[in-house]
Amino acid sequence: MKLLEALPPGDRDRELALSLDPARLPAHIAIIMDGNGRWAQRRGLPRIAGHKVGVSTVRSVVEDCVQLGIPALTLYAFSAENWKRPRTEVELLWRLLRYYLRREIDDLQRNNIRLQSIGRTEALPDRVYEELRDVERATAHNTGMRLTLAINYSARHELVDAVNSLIDEARIAGKLADLAVTENMISRRLYTADLPEPDLLIRTSGEMRVSNFLLWQIAYAELYVTETLWPDFNRTELLKAIVDFQKRERRFGGIGAAEPAESAADVIPPEALPGDEFETEEIAVSSQ
Ligand code: FPP
Repeated sequence: MKLLEALPPGDRDRELALSLDPARLPAHIAIIMDGNGRWAQRRGLPRIAGHKVGVSTVRSVVEDCVQLGIPALTLYAFSAENWKRPRTEVELLWRLLRYYLRREIDDLQRNNIRLQSIGRTEALPDRVYEELRDVERATAHNTGMRLTLAINYSARHELVDAVNSLIDEARIAGKLADLAVTENMISRRLYTADLPEPDLLIRTSGEMRVSNFLLWQIAYAELYVTETLWPDFNRTELLKAIVDFQKRERRFGGIGAAEPAESAADVIPPEALPGDEFETEEIAVSSQ
């Protein structure tokens, strides 16, 4: 873990980093960056001041994830619903995105980061769209961390787009009448088809919502919600989230690894379990 080399003995973050198991780091962290507006309002500043500081947080979190060796990081930068914000705020967000891309391109290349976007980005103002595409193209061959920016993103749009592409493909192949959709067919048509599913979803600023973000992909993600507002989400906060993640027992719908893998039938004698008659009766009642 490169991060440890950068942290002197006695540094609080060093203790946190040392407590991590490098073999069990999340393969993909997704973050709902929330609280920029509140951060600014609490200081009597305009909301845009919070977004500006939020960009610095993006830079530091990206750097920390690279140093930790996290393979994939996805940031929710602009939701499809964010167009409802005042026009001046939306325009400022586009300016900040362009500023970030221009400023970071050299660092992205130096750190071997591949930047990609997900969402209906063709709806962005032309110049923003072009600059985003330029950075995506310029970093396309990088083999290090995958940095994905969700921009004009909606998980429902993503699912609708996936289903429509399945229908189109089947129609073109003349097989629409035989189309039978599987989970795998949907997963392969999501914007994130070539990324692992997020293991850890972080949301800053305390709201207990997933806000239409990666709804399919977070089916088994561990959720971590912190009261900390995005502009204050520093390296210590990131490390705390990963430490907390490593304490969770991930069961993916099964039973815990520490529990004996015996079935209920091994413990409870079969005659004590509800029999066929019981089930038939239930079905008969429910079908009336
Ligand atoms: C949520 O805070 C934040 C956003 C909607 C925008 C996030 C954008 C950035 C951090 C800057 C640009 C991004 C990149 C990748 C360069 P909020 O305004 O909803 O805060 P509030 O809930 O306190 O009002």
